[in-house]
Amino acid sequence: MAWVIAIGVGLALAAGLAWLLLIRTEGVFLGRRTVIWLYDVYAGRYDGIKQFDPETEHTYLAEPILQRIPHIHAPLALDVATGTGRVPLALLEQPTFQGRVVGLDLSRKMLSVAAGKLAPFGARAALMHHPAERLPFPDDTFDLVTCLEALEFMMDPLAVLREQVRVLRPGGLLVLTNRQGLDARLMPGHTFAHDRFERLLREDFGLEYVAIDPWQVDYRIVWATKPGYAPPAGPLPLAEIWQCPRCAAIAMVPVAGGWRCLDCETRVPLGPDGVIEAAAAR
Ligand SMILES: C[S@@+](CC[C@H](N)C(=O)[O-])C[C@H]1O[C@@H](n2cnc3c(N)ncnc32)[C@H](O)[C@@H]1O
Repeated sequence: MAWVIAIGVGLALAAGLAWLLLIRTEGVFLGRRTVIWLYDVYAGRYDGIKQFDPETEHTYLAEPILQRIPHIHAPLALDVATGTGRVPLALLEQPTFQGRVVGLDLSRKMLSVAAGKLAPFGARAALMHHPAERLPFPDDTFDLVTCLEALEFMMDPLAVLREQVRVLRPGGLLVLTNRQGLDARLMPGHTFAHDRFERLLREDFGLEYVAIDPWQVDYRIVWATKPGYAPPAGPLPLAEIWQCPRCAAIAMVPVAGGWRCLDCETRVPLGPDGVIEAAAAR
C-alpha cells in the first residue's frame, strides 16, 4: 500500500513540476528552444487566448505610442518578439501612422499568423524569423522600438534589451512591458521589481524620460527615450537597414524566392507567407 501512495505522490509532484515549468512559466527555465516550441504549439490559439480587441489596442497601445512621437509622421519602427503581429497591426491600422514596421520573432508559427493579418499593408510591414538576441540592423536605426510581453521569456533579458537600445536612434522611443504579479515572482532572474527596472533603465542603460505606468493586470507599460538627438529615420525600406547575416553589409536585395547579399552572395529565403527566413540564412 505504501508504494502505491509513494507512486501517487511522485506522479502528482511530477505533474505539478511540469505545469510550473511548461504552463505557468512558459518554458523559460527549460531554454529558448522550449519557449519557442510552446509558442509554435499555441500560435493558432494565441490571439483567442489573449482576446485582442481592435478598440482596446487602439486606445491603450497605438494611440499612447503615437502621442509620444507626434513630431514623426512616418516613423521607422521595430517590434521585437512581435508574435502574431499585435504592435505592427495596431500601428498600421492608425490613419495617422504613415511609417513602416519590422516585426521579428523566433516562433515561425506565430509569424505565420502575423503574416496573414499584415498582408493588406504590403511592404509597410516586414516580418523576419530571427532571434531577438542579435538584431540584424546597424546602431541608431529605428525611431521606435517596442517589445511587449516578451522580455521575461528571453534567456538573458538585459542582453536583449541592450540590443534594442543599440538599434534605437538617439531621441527615439523605447516601449517595453514589465511583468508583475504572481507569475513575475515565479520567474526570478527574468523579471524585475518596477523600481529596480526603472533604476536599471536610467542608470545602467542611460535612458531618459523613463516612466512605468499601470497598463494591464499582468504588466506595466514602460516608456523610455534614448539620450541625444539624430534626425528621424523615416520609412526607409528594409533593403536600406538590414545587415547581411554573414558579412553584415547593407547590401541585401530582393531576388526571386527571397533576398541576396550583393557583397557575399548569402541567400535568405522568403516563406510562402512572405516571412523572411533569416534564421535559416546560409
Ligand atoms: C507573449 S508573446 C508576445 C507577443 C507580442 N509581443 C504580443 O504582445 O502579443 C512572446 C513572444 O516572444 C517570442 N520570443 C521568445 N523568445 C524569443 C527570442 N529569443 N527571440 C525572438 N522571439 C522570441 C515568442 O516566440 C513569442 O512570440
